[in-house]
Amino acid sequence: MIEQRKKDKWVIVVFHSLLLVLLLSFQRACCSFSSHSKQQKDKVTELPGQPNVSFAQYSGYVSVNKDSGRTLFYWFVEAVEDPASKPLVLWLNGGPGCSSIAYGLAEEVGPFRVNADGKSLYSNPYSWNQVANMLFLDSPVGVGFSYSNNSQDLLTNGDERTAKDSLAFLQKWFKRFPQYKGRELYLAGESYAGHYVPQLAQAIVQSRKLTGEKSINLKGYMVGNALTDDFHDHLGIFQFMWSSGLISDETYKLLNIFCDYQSFVHTSQFCETILDIASEELGNIDPYSIFTPPCTSNTTFPNKLLKRLHSVGHIGEKYDPCTAEHSTVYFNLPEVQKALHVDPAVAPSQWVTCSGLVNLNWKDSPRSVLNIYRELIQSGLRIWMFSGDTDAVIPVTSTRYSIDALKLPTVTPWHAWYHDGQVGGSTQVYKGLTFVTVRGAGHEVPLHKPKLARALIEAFLSGTPMPTLAGHDES
Ligand SMILES: *[C@@H]1O[C@H](CO)[C@@H](O)[C@H](O)[C@H]1NC(C)=O
Ligand SMILES: *[C@@H]1O[C@H](CO)[C@@H](O)[C@H](O)[C@H]1NC(C)=O
Ligand SMILES: *[C@@H]1O[C@H](CO)[C@@H](O)[C@H](O)[C@H]1NC(C)=O
Repeated sequence: MIEQRKKDKWVIVVFHSLLLVLLLSFQRACCSFSSHSKQQKDKVTELPGQPNVSFAQYSGYVSVNKDSGRTLFYWFVEAVEDPASKPLVLWLNGGPGCSSIAYGLAEEVGPFRVNADGKSLYSNPYSWNQVANMLFLDSPVGVGFSYSNNSQDLLTNGDERTAKDSLAFLQKWFKRFPQYKGRELYLAGESYAGHYVPQLAQAIVQSRKLTGEKSINLKGYMVGNALTDDFHDHLGIFQFMWSSGLISDETYKLLNIFCDYQSFVHTSQFCETILDIASEELGNIDPYSIFTPPCTSNTTFPNKLLKRLHSVGHIGEKYDPCTAEHSTVYFNLPEVQKALHVDPAVAPSQWVTCSGLVNLNWKDSPRSVLNIYRELIQSGLRIWMFSGDTDAVIPVTSTRYSIDALKLPTVTPWHAWYHDGQVGGSTQVYKGLTFVTVRGAGHEVPLHKPKLARALIEAFLSGTPMPTLAGHDES
């Protein structure tokens, strides 16, 4: 009897341990399965009209604020070869209000570009996913496919919340893609992302200090034709327009009197008037790329961005200056949205490359981010600034004035860099910051000069200076 009870007890213990083991392994299976299954749900099998590719891509939503339902949309393309050994790069476009998918992915550094038929894609031979895993984020809410269930959110966007939401996005994205936890991360972007990128970098660095959490392994950032410091940017813009022969002496003087000290995003009426005069004097050129023809199709843009020279972050030209319009056709196709897992319940009635609503209702926009540069240079991040030298919107002169204001010691003096035996631009290495110009490129450097942009990202990611002629000959 006792024997029997002992045996029973033993059986029960064994049974319980077995149950525990089962439960534990089930739990483990469940949770890795849950991130795995979320990831798999986001997997893009094939886009309409897409060329054959070997890399994996994912797209979908990440909720960044449960209360108001703020949700950001991302598109992630893994590296073509050996994604497990390549760094992760988050790319951001500016505006404020422009989609990183419309610009960064579909006409700059992504694997695809949209054909003129608006129905099919072709491969970008200089896609940055040949050197990195590329994550594109539509930020903030109201941009691209990113949305909020509280419509008020679209009228209250600003720099501070954008950085917070983008940090929340990253924290959650790494949970969905645990295989990228701790991976070397770099931020990159252009134009108004000259605010987003350093601000997000700062938020990441501060959060890491606070929590000790190491999933987000930020190593550095790089910005191009980046809005950095309203005063120095203004000086550089007016000087560039004048010295390029685009505006009159009178307008140049008036701009310097009435606009130099203005906020870039919130401009006084008087400055606005003189900017309109300048815009008139420019004529029908593309200020984002002053030597290439503008898109002359009669499609009306959904907002004032085109009219206002002062808005940043969109449109550029290659040989086909109308790529943004092809994208507008393509990304509005229901079958394309379906392939990207866009939820019709929350999709915009009309997908636009830049949201005028977001742009015109922008709230906080500090006049300078140079203080963040000073802080982050101290923290040892790799920081690069580049500039296409035929852009009149945030020209090379602006960036030079901003860098000059940092008063950094020079490590390697100004010199030409080379690609394929030709001068690709100029570069100067400062203590804590590298500056690179890209010759003949407009506001969207990778659109106009894709080969040079590829040389740039390769140098940046490997932390080596831009190649010189000698370096080129040896290689
Ligand atoms: C696409 O690529 C795969 C893998 O390289 C190959 O097996 C397949 O035949 C290709 N399909 C087409 C239509 O080219
Ligand atoms: C927002 O509302 C839509 C439609 O009611 C719903 O499907 C979605 O889950 C909501 N999103 C969030 C983040 O609450
Ligand atoms: C202008 O737009 C109209 C209406 O969308 C279209 O029918 C027409 O072909 C366009 N013209 C040109 C020159 O693109």
